Amino acid sequence: MSRKLAERLSSVAPSATLAMAARAAKLRAEGHRVFPFGVGEPDFDTPALIRNAAKAALDAGATHYTAVSGTAELKSAISAATERHRGYRPSPSEIVVSCGAKHVLFNIGLALYEPGDEVVIPAPFWVSYPEQVRLLGATPILVPTTEAEGFKLSPEKLEAALTPRTKAVVLCTPSNPTGAAYAEPELRALLEVLRRHDCWIIIDEIYADLVYDDFKHVSIPSIAEDLRDRVVIVDGVSKTYAMTGWRIGWSIAPPALTKAIDMVQSQSTTNAAAVSQAAAVAALNGPRDEIDAMRAAFDRRRVRMVEGLRSIPGVRCRMPEGAFYAFADVSGLYGAKHNGVELVTDDAIALWLLDAAHVATVAGTPFGAPGYLRFSYACSEEEIEQGIAAIREAVAVAKAQ
Ligand SMILES: Cc1ncc(COP(=O)(O)O)c(C=O)c1O
Repeated sequence: MSRKLAERLSSVAPSATLAMAARAAKLRAEGHRVFPFGVGEPDFDTPALIRNAAKAALDAGATHYTAVSGTAELKSAISAATERHRGYRPSPSEIVVSCGAKHVLFNIGLALYEPGDEVVIPAPFWVSYPEQVRLLGATPILVPTTEAEGFKLSPEKLEAALTPRTKAVVLCTPSNPTGAAYAEPELRALLEVLRRHDCWIIIDEIYADLVYDDFKHVSIPSIAEDLRDRVVIVDGVSKTYAMTGWRIGWSIAPPALTKAIDMVQSQSTTNAAAVSQAAAVAALNGPRDEIDAMRAAFDRRRVRMVEGLRSIPGVRCRMPEGAFYAFADVSGLYGAKHNGVELVTDDAIALWLLDAAHVATVAGTPFGAPGYLRFSYACSEEEIEQGIAAIREAVAVAKAQ
């Protein structure tokens, strides 16, 4: 059959959030206010200083191809920012700039994964990790973690998941969807295990600047010089600088892998948009006050969201260390009824909250965490307050049925 779609697509799940998004869009089109706790991006616009730098860059000629791996200015800004914020200084020969952190991860996968390879991913996980691994013909090994473990991989569970086929371990700290982040001793304990197993260590640090309560994000290259030849860092400007639409992310990897990623990218997207690279330079080199103000706003919203969720009977929620997600156990709501139907899955709870309270969330099952819902607090405190009140009311109505 010459017109058959590629077999590799058969193992990949379509985006689980589509049904919810379509229903939320319908509610909005009908004139309802929908509380946007499902979103995965800052509600802030990119700071004016960065936007203005991009406008000036366009007028100065940032309209052409750049080097595949990024402009010299951006790679040098990334080196300097990594030293300031992560405590080590990668050389430009270790950096490839791509079209967002998701693209970075896909490039890494294309450069590394083959059929038969296993990639260890702790659950709950960001949905794209296992799907990209499957798309590339390798096998995700999903390792469940519990809320009691802080949703963090223990050295024992890591050890048990590693096999001679393990090509890579992917960690996300702070995590989407849980907001959980690894403290330095926890990372050191995992590294002890990984020192005994020769595999790649891929760390997604896209949320590393969004940590709260004096939590200190520690970047593995700054504490494990001996592992630098197999650690790959994924980072970008999307979340910290409210720049999701600009599509700029980067890998920091040993030079041989960096060359391979450069080669992969040279045959797909070439370079990330020149103007976006110029904007990212302004973001990384610019003043921090607006960036700090956004982080402080997320912090206030985090407390409001978590305390609000905890005030609802049947809902439990851990205080997350970072990112902008609260990950709540809603299994205590199972058994409640909506339109006479008993609710017994996180998916059903999410759809009910959308219908009954006009609150959009994301169900935990696609993240590998049945019984949970992800509540994004990248929205105003007023929306959080009112959305929580709407949930409380819907729960009271459902319990009375
Ligand atoms: C954990 C994680 N990694 C990577 C990304 C992708 O970031 P980007 O928008 O830069 O592709 C996201 C976006 O939601 C994310 O949550």
